[in-house]
Amino acid sequence: MSYDFDKEFDRRNTNSEKWDVLENELPMWIADMDFQTAPEIMEAMKKSIDGGIFGYQFVPDSYYEAVKNWFELEHNFKPETDWMVFSTGVMPSISAIIRHLTDVGDNILLQEPNYNSFYKAIESNGRNVTNSELTYKNDAYQIDWEDLKNKLSDPQTTVMIVCNPHNPTGHIWDAKTLSRIGQLAKDNDVLIISDEIHGDLSMPNNSYIPFASLDESIIDNSISLVSPTKTFNLAMLHASTLFVPNENLRNKVRRAISIDGHNEPGILAIDGTIAAYTKGHDWLSELRQYISINRQLLSDYVAKNIPELTVLKSDATYLAWIDCTKVTDDSAELNEFIRKETGLYLAEGTKYRGNGSEFLRMNLATNKSRVQDGLNRLERGIHAYINK
Ligand SMILES: Cc1ncc(COP(=O)(O)O)c(C=O)c1O
Repeated sequence: MSYDFDKEFDRRNTNSEKWDVLENELPMWIADMDFQTAPEIMEAMKKSIDGGIFGYQFVPDSYYEAVKNWFELEHNFKPETDWMVFSTGVMPSISAIIRHLTDVGDNILLQEPNYNSFYKAIESNGRNVTNSELTYKNDAYQIDWEDLKNKLSDPQTTVMIVCNPHNPTGHIWDAKTLSRIGQLAKDNDVLIISDEIHGDLSMPNNSYIPFASLDESIIDNSISLVSPTKTFNLAMLHASTLFVPNENLRNKVRRAISIDGHNEPGILAIDGTIAAYTKGHDWLSELRQYISINRQLLSDYVAKNIPELTVLKSDATYLAWIDCTKVTDDSAELNEFIRKETGLYLAEGTKYRGNGSEFLRMNLATNKSRVQDGLNRLERGIHAYINK
């Protein structure tokens, strides 16, 4: 590997949300990485800072070209630059779309368990979460098509958010599944929002399907959100791109983003994104390999030393979804216990709703020795919990 993912960084006292923990604690919860971003991106950002003038910026054509070329090279898909709208983040955009393109009291469909911030964006805007829960069987999740069809056909349901790839399970939806969802949504006049922030982070030899790469008639009814922030550990870059193939819808989305003030890039957003999307291919390829090694480490360790748990197979993300059914149905309590007992701080599945109360989510985007430390603590914590 030409990039050093083994290097350990001390993130304490850096205002890091993840690392705002006690001295003995090891945080493996919130979805950011303990790796420095790609040196090519750091170099571009340093150059922007060195300019020393931080006036208002517009989004240049080269930004949209960089997005297009990235998708063509990484995902074999060429989005039109005309479809693209810049915004300062995926969740701010989803929230703005909900606020301005739906009405108070509308139902927004989610497939639980699902990314916790979706609930906040829906409920704090006075809309309802409608859950078409994923069915869990034989250590894998599936869509209950009959239930999905029923919920989409409720006239109060106006939007469905597809998490593609899916957080917390790391599942990649295949093209057939996405098309079927898209067709059902279209038949019922339900808008699709496809959150693809984890799309670049598939495991080696895997790739995700951008929703906007599907059939023209389906994508006409969709908004996809992509960003380099999860991919390159740039959460605070506050940059994302929406693909909205339908022109009328795009104008409404642009207006929503602008009303809520999410259309103006911060100082590093443009240069950082362009550098990521033009120079980040090799770094990402090595990162994906590194994460897959960490995944293997976790699966092997759990199978050998913590047989009470099951690590779900996953095609994407650096997040592991761990089945604790044999240990508890209250993962919030279990998580708190493990943290107190061993200092390991995971994400309790409860906050993702659905059957998440029987799961823990572990962030594997850290150097191998920390992953090993986390596994040792997990083993100790689970066995202490069982024997308490
Ligand atoms: C599915 C998903 N969407 C959105 C976000 C956050 O996006 P942003 O930081 O651009 O608001 C996350 C972060 O974990 C995520 O997992």
